Amino acid sequence: MSEPTDLGELVAVARATRERAYAPYGRFLVGAAVASDGGVFAGANVENASYGVSICAERVAAAAAVASGARRIDAVAVAGPGPRPTPPCGACRQFLYEFGPDMIVVSEAPGGDRSQWRLSELLRDGFGPAELEGSA
Ligand code: THU
Repeated sequence: MSEPTDLGELVAVARATRERAYAPYGRFLVGAAVASDGGVFAGANVENASYGVSICAERVAAAAAVASGARRIDAVAVAGPGPRPTPPCGACRQFLYEFGPDMIVVSEAPGGDRSQWRLSELLRDGFGPAELEGSA
């Protein structure tokens, strides 16, 4: 997104994409949307019969953005089942950190309850590309 991120729209994309989640095992359906330097990209969680290879909605959305050429993510919206706003898991926090350590993370429960953070609050002192610079 080159224009300022409209978080309400981003949440709406996440909410709509949640309907396409493939979550027959956990039955915890999640949608996500990222606002990137290449536009908005959506994702949903995709589970697998080999449970451990399942992937979260946030990483699907971020990977779609990057595969389209985006390299910076300004905001991510998450839409889970509630009753509380779903916070991104630790693996997703690390995955997203690569593309915007200070990005806005907004999560909305079905009833409309919203939580909002900076990724840097959710993952303090994160490990990013800078850590690899100048390493032996
Ligand atoms: N999940 C997400 O997609 N995003 C989150 O932020 C939390 C968890 C998925 C993974 C799994 O398919 C299901 O929700 C239950 O953990």
